[in-house]
This record gives sequence, C-alpha cells and structure tokens, in this order.
Amino acid sequence: MTRSALTKVALVLIGAVGVTAGAPFQPARADSDGDSDATQLTVDGSGVLGSVSTNGFDTGTTNGFFANLGTNGRTCGTCHVEADAWTFTPQHAKSLAPNDPLFTPNDGSDCPPISPSQGPNSALSSEVLQYGLIRIELGIPATASFALASTSNPKGCAIPPGSPGVGGQLFLFRRPLPSTNLIFESAIMWDGRETLERVTTQANFQSLAPLLFDLADQANSATTGHAQGASIVGAPAQTDIVTFETNLYTAQSLLFQLRQGLFAFLTADGAHGGPDYLEDTVAPAFFIGINDPLKPGFSNANFDLFAAWEPTSPQYKSLQPSEQAIGRGEAIFDNTTFVIHDVPGLNSAPSNPLYNPADPLAGQDIQGGCAICHNNPNVGNHSTSLPINIGVTMAQPTNNDGSPNNVLDIANLPVYTLQNPATGASVQVTDPGKAMLSGKWTDIGKTKGPMLRGLAGRAPYFHNGSAKDLATVVNFYNQRFAIGLTPQQANDLVAFLSAL
Ligand code: HEC
Ligand code: HEC
Repeated sequence: MTRSALTKVALVLIGAVGVTAGAPFQPARADSDGDSDATQLTVDGSGVLGSVSTNGFDTGTTNGFFANLGTNGRTCGTCHVEADAWTFTPQHAKSLAPNDPLFTPNDGSDCPPISPSQGPNSALSSEVLQYGLIRIELGIPATASFALASTSNPKGCAIPPGSPGVGGQLFLFRRPLPSTNLIFESAIMWDGRETLERVTTQANFQSLAPLLFDLADQANSATTGHAQGASIVGAPAQTDIVTFETNLYTAQSLLFQLRQGLFAFLTADGAHGGPDYLEDTVAPAFFIGINDPLKPGFSNANFDLFAAWEPTSPQYKSLQPSEQAIGRGEAIFDNTTFVIHDVPGLNSAPSNPLYNPADPLAGQDIQGGCAICHNNPNVGNHSTSLPINIGVTMAQPTNNDGSPNNVLDIANLPVYTLQNPATGASVQVTDPGKAMLSGKWTDIGKTKGPMLRGLAGRAPYFHNGSAKDLATVVNFYNQRFAIGLTPQQANDLVAFLSAL
C-alpha cells in the first residue's frame, strides 16, 4: 500500500472507533492476544498509544489514582495523563484553563507563591507550559560534603532558590516520570529518593514487596506534596493507587507521524510493538539485574521487538519503508558501539572534579552502545539501580573530548554552584540529582536511566525537558559520545525510538 492509502486506512479506523484526541477509548473486545485484559487506546500527533491493564483498569473503591485526595483539586491524573503516556506534555498544559489545578503554585509555578492565598495562574507557569516541568524543592542535607556557593535566578523569583524564604531549598525542575510499566522499576524517582527499600523483583512477578512498599510511600508523598492533602498511609486509596499502577502497561501501538513520513502498525508483519507483548512476554521475564552490563553474559542487542523488520530479516525487502526504517533503527540501537568516556557513577575520569575511584569502571573508557545504560531488554531502563551523570544535569554539558555540548535547551533553569570545602573544587549544575539525598560530592548530577517505552507521545525528554524531540535526544548523544551517526542513521534511530 502507498503511504496515502495507509493514511486513509488509519483515519478511517480512528474515525470508526470514534476516538477523540486525548480521550481514552476502550475497545469492546479482548486485547489482541485474546486474554481478558482491558485495552485503552489514545490518539495523539504520533499515532495511537496503547495502555493495557491486567485488572481491567480497576481503580478500586476509592478511584485511587483519579480521585481528589488533597486540597488543591489535583489528582494523580493531573500530572500523569494517559494520553501523554502517563506524564503530561506542554501541549496538554496549554490546552487547560489558566486556573487549572496543574498550575497550583506549590510546585506548578516558576516561583514559590508570595502569599498563602495565591491560586493557580498559568501566566506564572512558563516551566509547566513550555517544558512540562514541575518545581521540586529540596534542601541540601545538613551533613552534605558540599556547600551552595551561589545560585542564579533566571525567572526573577521574589523568593529565589536557595534563599532563607524557602529554607535554603533549591528549585529542581523535573518532568513527571510515566506512572506506567512500573513493574520494571529498579529505582523510584529521577534521583531514586523513593527507593526506600532496595527493589528485588524476580521473574514471574516474585519478590515484589519492596517495589510495592516504595510505590506506596511514593503515593503518599505525592498526595501530601503535589495534592497538599492529608496522609493516606494505610488508607484504601494508597493500596488502590499501587494496585492500579503495577497492573498497567503502555507502549506505542500505531505510529503515524506525517511530517517524518512514518506510518506503521507496530504489531504487523511479525513485530512485537504495543503493550500486549510488553505485558504478556516481557514483564514475566523481568528480574532485577537482567542483562547487567557489568556481568558476564551481557548483550548490547537488548531490543528485539522489531527483529522481523531488521535488515537481517528474510522479509526485509518486502516491508513498508516505515517498517524498514524502524527495523534499521533497532539494529543501530543494538549494534552500534562508541566510546563512553567520563560518566560519573559508571566510569568517571580522574580529570573530572566529580571523579570517584569507587565507580565500577573508574578511569576506564568503555566501548559500548545505548544498552550499556538502557540494558533492560525491550524496556530500556537500567535493570539495577545505577545513578549516573551523563551531563544532562550540568550547567555546561560536555562531550567525550571535553568540548561543550550545546544541544540541550537549559537556559530556563537555575544554575547552582556547588563547592567542595575539602578540595576547593566547584561544579555548576542545574540539578544536583542524587547528591540532594546522599549529601555526597561524587553523587552530584546523578539521575537514573529511565524506561524507553511510550516515548513518542510524551516529549520533551530528559528529566529537565531539555530535548524538545527525539531527534534532539539523538543529536545530543551523537555529539556527547562522538558516535558518528549519519543523518540517515539518526533518522532511523528516531523512528525506532518513536515506535516504542
Ligand atoms: C503536580 C504534578 C504531579 C502530581 C499531581 C503527581 N505527580 Fe507523580 N511525579 C511528578 C513528578 C515531577 C515526578 C518526578 C519527580 C522526581 O523524580 O523528582 C513524579 C514521579 C512519579 C513516580 C515515579 C515513577 C518512576 O519511574 O520513578 C510515580 C510512581 C508517581 N509520580 C506517581 C504519582 C501518584 C500515585 C500520584 C498521586 C498520588 C502522583 N504521582 C501525583 C509529578 C506529579
Ligand atoms: C552512559 C549511559 C547512557 C548511554 C550510553 C545512553 N543513555 Fe540514554 N539516558 C541515560 C540517562 C542517565 C538518562 C536520563 C538523563 C536525565 O534526564 O537526567 C537517559 C535518557 C534517555 C532518553 C530520554 C528518556 C526520557 O524519558 O526522557 C532517551 C530517549 C535515551 N536516553 C535514549 C538513548 C539512546 C538512543 C542511546 C544510544 C545512542 C542512549 N540513550 C545512550 C543514560 C545513557
């Protein structure tokens, strides 16, 4: 079929089921593998996103995740929107009324409220509107081995970050992580601060207790923090939320990006895209530490959803151009290796002020691919907790050779100068990451490697929304690690990432 014919089929299909952009649609049938899990589809500018639930999207007697559990009108669904792959996009924020609870100034505005009565007002929320960022306020631990030397105040806040008016707390602007596919978690939150018990998940959903404990604590913190509500510890809502979250799986089902010329049914011609395969085949096989890059047996080729579309597949020549592009992109993700230099937490270099000789591969360059960090097969987060600093948190990200990497859009973020009194060294970051929990100098700037499913519908990317699209993410990496991707290869990698 030609692309325009395929486009017509897609529009007819979308029209026939009466899906309106954003609103979830639940087909009145079993999901494609014939079991009784419920499927919901949403449509966005990238095609159709599928979410499947093993308990029929049961939100419990309290309606947990979607209930108003606080005092400011927010629910979990205010920031974790199904149609935006369970985070929210700037586009979504722009579609809301100026006084929507999303813009509540406790964390939905650029600056802290200047009076207790200040309500939501989108005119004061450029970080939410432009980058999909929430203002997380954290203080440097009293026992920290570093000190705050100075902060910038790019939004001209009356109460600036780090000032006494906020008890010295820093403003950390972060994207909501998707509240789906959580069964695959190895660390909770960008900085791991809700991993109170080390996650121990084993194959076939065994040893889930620590994960459930951490998510229960997270649900309570979100209720008392984001929603400014009373504690839900031990209340039915807490259980309802965690049950809902841990039965939910999300992935792109159909890719339809007119401008990029991409159209593909992601379960056609032998491919395993979409949420059903993720739930039925990938999830039961997952265990903490699967395909660990620091252990024998590691394979960089950890995505095979589109093996039937890769150039090595016998049917490759007869496939649609979009399918071929996605297949080539998966092969690039799996097989292209490059030099990974100076990533604190993994292999910091002695020249880096954040050098840590205790890093697993301290001082050594690694020849590896995307899967060194995105190693969880067909999911892409790190399968054990591995907080690392790839440069996204730095005020000036740098490449392997030390040259500046200026691909990311970070001018909107406050810059923090942190000093190590023991050595006199200082670094500048937009987010100290894990160091805000541990207080350790060498933890500065460390974040987790997030999951790579359901990407297309939830731009912008990275914890600080600094990459406006997947092409920008790939461009960042191409320069950061001097990968040497051609424009065609970069496009193919983007096609693959969009299909996840
Ligand atoms: C005001 C927006 C907002 C609301 C409301 C909100 N969240 Fe979040 N959520 C975030 C942000 C921002 C992060 C990432 C913060 C960080 O890592 O520091 C996050 C992270 C998470 C994570 C971590 C996922 C991961 O991969 O580590 C989970 C789970 C989660 N939220 C669940 C919930 C639940 C449950 C509720 C309702 C009780 C809720 N959220 C309400 C913004 C919100
Ligand atoms: C050295 C480790 C490392 C390597 C190699 C690496 N990544 Fe990442 N990746 C990370 C970390 C850590 C983050 C989160 C950084 C942040 O936002 O603070 C991330 C984030 C991402 C995101 C954004 C996800 C989101 O939810 O915003 C994408 C997409 C991504 N990586 C794709 C890739 C691709 C494609 C490659 C190979 C070209 C690659 N990564 C190589 C560690 C790595």
